[in-house]
Amino acid sequence: MKEEKPIVQNTSDFYHPSPEIIAQANVKDPEAARLEAAKDIQAYWAKRAEELDWYKKWDTVLDDSNKPFYKWFTGGKTNIVLNALDRHVKTWKRNKLALIWEGEKGEVRTFSYHALNREVCKFANVLKSMGVIKGDLVTIYMPRIPETVIAMLATAKIGAVHSVVYGGFSVEALHGRIEDSGSKVVITADGGNMNGKKIELKKIVDEALQRSGAPEHVVVIKHLGIDVMMEQGRDFWYHELMTLPISKNGVKCETVEMDAEDPLFILYTSGTTGKPKAILHTHGGYSVGVHATLKDVFDLKEEDRWWCTADPGWITGHSYIVYGPLIAGATSVMYEGAPTYPYPDRWWSIIEKYGVTIFYSTPTAIRGLMRFGESWANRHDLSSLRLLGSVGEPINPEAWRWFYKVIGKEKCPIMDTWWQTETGMFMMAPMPAQPLKPGSATKPFPGIDADVVNAEGKSVAPGEEGFLILKNPWPAMMRTIFKDPERYVKTYWSTYPGYYFAGDSARKDKDGYFWVIGRVDDVIKVSGYRLGTAEIESAFITHHSVAEAAVIGLPHEIKGMAIHAYLILKAGNEANEALVEDLRKHISHELGPIAKPEKIEFVTSLPKTRSGKIMRRVLKARAQGMSEGDISTLEE
Ligand code: PRX
Repeated sequence: MKEEKPIVQNTSDFYHPSPEIIAQANVKDPEAARLEAAKDIQAYWAKRAEELDWYKKWDTVLDDSNKPFYKWFTGGKTNIVLNALDRHVKTWKRNKLALIWEGEKGEVRTFSYHALNREVCKFANVLKSMGVIKGDLVTIYMPRIPETVIAMLATAKIGAVHSVVYGGFSVEALHGRIEDSGSKVVITADGGNMNGKKIELKKIVDEALQRSGAPEHVVVIKHLGIDVMMEQGRDFWYHELMTLPISKNGVKCETVEMDAEDPLFILYTSGTTGKPKAILHTHGGYSVGVHATLKDVFDLKEEDRWWCTADPGWITGHSYIVYGPLIAGATSVMYEGAPTYPYPDRWWSIIEKYGVTIFYSTPTAIRGLMRFGESWANRHDLSSLRLLGSVGEPINPEAWRWFYKVIGKEKCPIMDTWWQTETGMFMMAPMPAQPLKPGSATKPFPGIDADVVNAEGKSVAPGEEGFLILKNPWPAMMRTIFKDPERYVKTYWSTYPGYYFAGDSARKDKDGYFWVIGRVDDVIKVSGYRLGTAEIESAFITHHSVAEAAVIGLPHEIKGMAIHAYLILKAGNEANEALVEDLRKHISHELGPIAKPEKIEFVTSLPKTRSGKIMRRVLKARAQGMSEGDISTLEE
């Protein structure tokens, strides 16, 4: 990617919101809200929790007696479904649209809160009939279709724990995640339309389950109508299960009352080792966190039409497609396919067609669509929009400016939200009434205390680069790594004892605005998707020709970062184009198309430390023609 100077370099160059935006904002004075929360974060979060329904209110807001295993709202009884569905269907909202779904081929399905609740109850009864009980794990591996939302809510409703695996992942990635979670049931579809291609998901499930870790049952949604293998006694069609007289209460199902701290879901994410981490989130604190952040940052109103373009398989989808908007009682738009199918104006046509008012997307997508020019957006009436959002990676000023001008017509502020799978909710983000600086996620959300520090943990001077840390706990924070609490402590709380280490580098300017630069660990953000170098390297090693592999991320104009692989071949293998193609296919088959390397180079040695660890930093420096830095431990 080209080095670009930020378009705003001094404090007089803020983008100020219009008086109309300020007048309608849920939070009129973001600075005052931050100051107020900082005075007493427990009082602040208790106030936000009061905005939700509870079966029983909490005894203690924050229990920090066993740091860093913080607990929130202990003694409280809830279930996220109580706030996402149950309380709405008791009011006029039962007839409000919860979900508008459009398939890649143009099919449309809509669900009112009443209809969504009905499907969720029915499917919850199906899961119960399969023996799924409170605390059981359920893997959901699906395309972007309404049944994904139904499956997540039904699992939560009966107190089971979902583990959604992104439908773009493939055999080995899925196998590892099913096996580690110990899921009792896997929910999938025959296939899905992903980026203009048909992905045969059930086939991938079958292959993953052959490798071990077989669950008791697989539920299959007929979406594409393609032929699939159905193993008798294990595999069941969703549409058949949903029409059986499952119980005498077929369309009614009690929501299970959970402790606030009971697990809601795990979500695997990449870290520094080959084994993905299962980030665990809970019912109570997570509900409060996603509710408060969505309401304040995106200013959700009753009449809004919200569209988050993420996939439910990532944290953005969990928090801001499924749970946040439903808790808010909003109408969400969900689109199955590619933004460029059949033409590069598909997203803009969806905004126009459904009157989307708030549009939340990623820098990669914006950069990708920018390539096609303004005319595709200009042929649509985008005047319904009032706010825009960005997430997943730093947004470069050029993309910011295009988004602001061509899509937002210079009247929609862009909410650049910095957060992570681990944080569950926005950590740093503007609010509409706040001045913006393009490329900055601005300031921490009320109740969050962020800082940029050096290796010794001292705050760096304004403008200097350092490591991003969070000094306060927050309700939607991860509680642990499922089955690996030691790794939780070591990864997040040991670098700067007492503080959460985010794994990002950042700068804070003299106005207190944060500028996130990127990951400082072995995580690569490819098109905003989080991938681990070690997981990709492990997948390379399973190819018959590869002896050793090293993978790094290098800047890419559209994707932000792209994967570059350096491979040492086993003797007898010839380095040629056919092998490169075969290796790319292998990675796509094992991990998924998103992990396909941009470039593969065959080498005869790799830079390593004396203890044999690959020095990816040195590879990166060499590839970019930069200084190799301290190489005293290098033994090539
Ligand atoms: O590096 C940061 C980047 O995405 C990482 C978290 O990835 P993941 O857990 O997959 O969650 C992505 C969606 C919340 C962060 O450590 N990141 C996320 N949002 C931003 C960002 N970098 C810069 N600006 C952002 N707005």
